[in-house]
Amino acid sequence: MARHLITSALPYINGIKHLGNLVGSQLPADLYARYLRARGHEVMFICATDEHGTPAELAAAKTGEAVADYCARMHGVQTTLADGFGLSFDHYGRSSSDRNRALTQHFAGRLADQGYIREVVEKQVYSHADNRFLPDRYIEGTCPNCGYDKARGDQCENCTKQLDPTDLINPRSAISGSTDLEVRETKHLYLRQSALKGDIAAWIDGKADWPILTTSIARKWLNDGDGLQDRGITRDLDWGVPVKRGDADWPGMEGKVFYVWFDAPIEYIGATAEWADATGADDAAWRRWWRLDQGAEDVTYTQFMGKDNVPFHTLSFPATLIGSGEPWKMVDYIKSFNYLTYQGGQFSTSQGRGVFMDHALEILPADYWRWWLLSHAPESGDSEFTWENFQQSVNKDLADVLGNFVSRITKFCRAKFGEAVPEGPAWAPPNWP
Ligand code: 2FM
Ligand code: ZN
Repeated sequence: MARHLITSALPYINGIKHLGNLVGSQLPADLYARYLRARGHEVMFICATDEHGTPAELAAAKTGEAVADYCARMHGVQTTLADGFGLSFDHYGRSSSDRNRALTQHFAGRLADQGYIREVVEKQVYSHADNRFLPDRYIEGTCPNCGYDKARGDQCENCTKQLDPTDLINPRSAISGSTDLEVRETKHLYLRQSALKGDIAAWIDGKADWPILTTSIARKWLNDGDGLQDRGITRDLDWGVPVKRGDADWPGMEGKVFYVWFDAPIEYIGATAEWADATGADDAAWRRWWRLDQGAEDVTYTQFMGKDNVPFHTLSFPATLIGSGEPWKMVDYIKSFNYLTYQGGQFSTSQGRGVFMDHALEILPADYWRWWLLSHAPESGDSEFTWENFQQSVNKDLADVLGNFVSRITKFCRAKFGEAVPEGPAWAPPNWP
């Protein structure tokens, strides 16, 4: 029996996820977890809500709730929907947990001790109309890389390039739409990814079996322009993990929080610790999945995600783990997905465009959706959801082909064996190679 750690990219807390989110991470991860469990392996399948950063703050501002209350409520909603879709997580955690806060501060402290953090006085966009700095998604504009005019301050969702808010052309506030912006100075911590470039490149070079989609995106950002850039890992926001150096205060960083993309992947570890807490297990129980010096040498770790998440999982998170100088388990295989499109366009949470998990379950039971999505997973390129295709596929493949097959077999069995199911040997996992 082998030991498999499986993580699905953490869905943002802001709103109900659409089928495109589901098919790009949680659903294939669930399929893989179920498959490995059925083979008799020991599986730890982890997911959580990604609760920090501007998406959460902006969504809470819209509903008028305090951001902590909004996150608690939406975590409940997402948990119910995950259950409804049969997602078999061993634990569905929260990146706002005490475990993740402590781990995030721990990693920052270790990175600083190892010389991989530098303090930078940098220029940030300040909005006069909103009376505040505008990090990440608080600012929108045109992508300098591809020209997409709705690029966000942290990443262009069209070309996946990681951005800084000051990179955007024609920037505007995502809160007020104001273009009355000014660049002001503020101090932040930077992760010295450039100093870890050699380690990361060597690590990726050893992953010849990874999907081309994963390695091509990783190599692109590893070698783009001047190569791997240092990244700001703190923000001028109220909501998030307070900046600390381990347990100690960080002089000059009072009132700031870690960037959501710094703490979110650490929550893969945090959620496993939350699982231990929830099941009454001790720290050794989660550490044997994550620490090479405490039992994780024989773990195989697989991550599932959409292609826009690949840079963070192939570059930034590995930089955090390697830079800590501690023996953390690194991912063995990154399964990434292209996009599922909706009726010829993009699924969009902000524009409410597409089929959302709650609506899907109101229309049909989860297995219809699970089957259609997994059989149309966007592996080699983007794939498209259309209502016509969904209807035809269900009627033809499920009702006609599978339904007819099951009907014939059950009728045959009834004719030969009567109403009673014959006794057979006890089920055991097949001994496949
Ligand atoms: O793109 C997203 O939906 C992010 N919330 C994924 C985070 S994955 C991980 F690093 F936490
Ligand atoms: Zn772009």
